[in-house]
Amino acid sequence: MKRIAILTSGGDAPGMNAAVRAATLLGIGKGLEVFGVQHGYQGLLDDTLVALEPQQVQSVIRDGGTMLGSARCLDFHKKERRDEARAVLKNRGIEGLIVIGGNGSLTGLLALTDPAECEIPLKGIGIPASIDNDLAITRLAIGVDTAINTIVDACDKISDTASAHDRTFIVEVMGRQCGYLAMTSAIASAANAVLFPEMGKSEDEVVETVVRAVVRAQQRTERSKRVLVIKAEGVGIPIERLKQRVDERVREETGRDTIETRVTVLGHVVRGGRPSALDRMIASRLANTAVEGLLAGHTRMMTAWTPPAAVPPDHVQRTRNDPQVCLVDLAYTLEETRAMLDGTSNFVKWRKKVFAEIEEVLSL
Ligand code: F6P
Repeated sequence: MKRIAILTSGGDAPGMNAAVRAATLLGIGKGLEVFGVQHGYQGLLDDTLVALEPQQVQSVIRDGGTMLGSARCLDFHKKERRDEARAVLKNRGIEGLIVIGGNGSLTGLLALTDPAECEIPLKGIGIPASIDNDLAITRLAIGVDTAINTIVDACDKISDTASAHDRTFIVEVMGRQCGYLAMTSAIASAANAVLFPEMGKSEDEVVETVVRAVVRAQQRTERSKRVLVIKAEGVGIPIERLKQRVDERVREETGRDTIETRVTVLGHVVRGGRPSALDRMIASRLANTAVEGLLAGHTRMMTAWTPPAAVPPDHVQRTRNDPQVCLVDLAYTLEETRAMLDGTSNFVKWRKKVFAEIEEVLSL
């Protein structure tokens, strides 16, 4: 293998640049020519490849977003488009592709490298990057740690004003199908309740969860009656309706109309910012294994950060020089991801059980 390309795709995540940097430097260090594809799979179709040199990537480790640009490219679901992309790569003499992204992006990579679709299949390895942490098998994806820190920082600020006014704040965080950010940041910011899609609660149950936290807070003896509730965006009820229904129910329960709820939607703020040290480190190590993997001839794999021991041995490839990072079969990973997102995986069932217990403690 002489030439490889790197692309970032889907929602950007802090730390993507650290992965681009490490893959570029390590690739060049091993005698490869490394190309960056600008704007994800769409860029591949538009042949936006540029050669990457060490000086271009040296300092990007500090930057959020992605220096290569990103896009969501629905066109890639069509085989004709993938044929076009393969032709672009072949023309450029690219034999290996590293895709840094989430569930949709890595599904694209699996299709692009499908031996049933081409005679000499392209080799491809995925690096998990998604602030939602919605990919199975890897315990952390690039961007998750920074996103949690951003949420906790915002919640600490909100807690100051919530305590001063004895108010309830409902803070909505990203997480379309996966409530990992909501769960972890709720613990780290001492929230009184957490709402996430995996719980599968009805709208009434969601309202009652918040009401219970508010009523409990009113029974506290200390001065502050601050209530912080973290809601993942994937919980169906729109936040304004939730506020309205909570206010009505709290009035009924307490007979008081002075207990106020406020809402804050953090939205895309959660996706930006300088990557944390942990994200920079994880990204660099995942990229290292991706380059090593391509050079060793592996394909249709994803690099994973401390995968669970339960992964069947034929789906996992331990690496020579990093005990925390493995290569895991990509098709298997995406199947496990589907089960995680539709709630059928044992892992999600376990998580729900644990959080049902945590919920009791949060509102005390
Ligand atoms: O990257 C994942 C994610 O942040 C989801 O949590 C969120 O629903 C989505 O991206 C938002 O995507 P977009 O930036 O395309 O609106």
